[in-house]
Amino acid sequence: MSANKQQIEFWSGGGGDYWVDKQFEMDTMLNPLGQKAIDSLHIQKGDSVLDVGCGTGTTTLLLSEKVGPEGKVTGLDISVPMLARTLELAIENNKTNISIINKDVQENELDEQYDHLFSRFGVMFFTDPITSFKNLKKSLKADGSFSFVCWQHPSKNPWHTKPLGILKKYFDLPPAQPRAPSPFAFEEKAYLEEILKSSGFSKYSIDDNQENIHLFPNKSSYDAAKDFMALNPIISNALQGMSDDEKEPIVTELAEVYESHKNSQGLEFESATWVVNASS
Ligand SMILES: C[S@@+](CC[C@H](N)C(=O)[O-])C[C@H]1O[C@@H](n2cnc3c(N)ncnc32)[C@H](O)[C@@H]1O
Repeated sequence: MSANKQQIEFWSGGGGDYWVDKQFEMDTMLNPLGQKAIDSLHIQKGDSVLDVGCGTGTTTLLLSEKVGPEGKVTGLDISVPMLARTLELAIENNKTNISIINKDVQENELDEQYDHLFSRFGVMFFTDPITSFKNLKKSLKADGSFSFVCWQHPSKNPWHTKPLGILKKYFDLPPAQPRAPSPFAFEEKAYLEEILKSSGFSKYSIDDNQENIHLFPNKSSYDAAKDFMALNPIISNALQGMSDDEKEPIVTELAEVYESHKNSQGLEFESATWVVNASS
C-alpha cells in the first residue's frame, strides 16, 4: 500500500474534482506566487522541465511557452482528474511539447533527467519528503535547478486563518500536525533547509515573499464562503453530518468577514510564501 494513500485518495477524489472545477479561482489566487518561482529559473528555449504536482496544468502550460516547441515539459502528479485537465489544456492550446506522468515521486525514481524542476504548491504532501526530494534530485541534471513555492506559517496567511477562526466557533477541528503532509508542511524555514540539505541540494536560496493575493474573483461573499467550506477535506468532513440550516449561520458569518476583504479583483488577503531555488 502506498505511504501517500490518503493524499492519492484526496487528490484523485473529491479534492481533485474540486480543483478542476475551480481552476480559474485557484489560478487567480496562485498565479502571481507561482510566477515568482518560474522567474527564479533561467529557462531557455529547448530546455526540459518537470512540473511536480502539476495539478490542472496552468503552470505546465506557462512553462511550455518558455521552453518553446523545441523544448518539453512533463507534468507529474498523483491525481487522475487533475492530470486529465492538464492534458486537455495542452490539446486546447495545441501544445505538443507537454506530456504527463501519473506517479508518486516518493515511491518512484523517474526515468529521465530534466534541465529544471518546478513546483507551485505541489511538494508539501509527502509522508517522506527527504526520500521524495532525493528522487527528484536524481531526475535533475547536474547543472540544473529546482524552484518551488510553498506556504509559510498559517499565522502569516490570514486567507486561511481568518475563516478557520470562524469555523472553530461552530465545531472542533483536529489540531494541525506540524510537518505532516498539508499545505503548511514546510511552514518552518529550518525544516525546509533540513530537507534540502538531506536530499543533496547543497546550494539553495529561500526567499521570504509577502504579497497580497485575490481569492474567489467574480463571486459574492456568500458564494465564496460556501466554496471555502468545500475546498478543504478536513472542513468538508466536519460539515458532513450538518443540515443546510445548521450550516447557514457559519456561511453567513464567514460571508461577513469576506465582505470586508472584497474589492474589484476578488477577496484581497495578505499572504506569505517561501520561494525556493535549489541546486547541487
Ligand atoms: C495544492 S495542489 C497544487 C496544484 C498545482 N501545482 C497548482 O498550483 O495549481 C497540490 C498538487 O500536488 C499533487 N501531489 C500531492 N502529492 C503528490 C505526490 N506524492 N506526487 C506527485 N504529486 C503530488 C496533488 O495531486 C495536487 O495536484
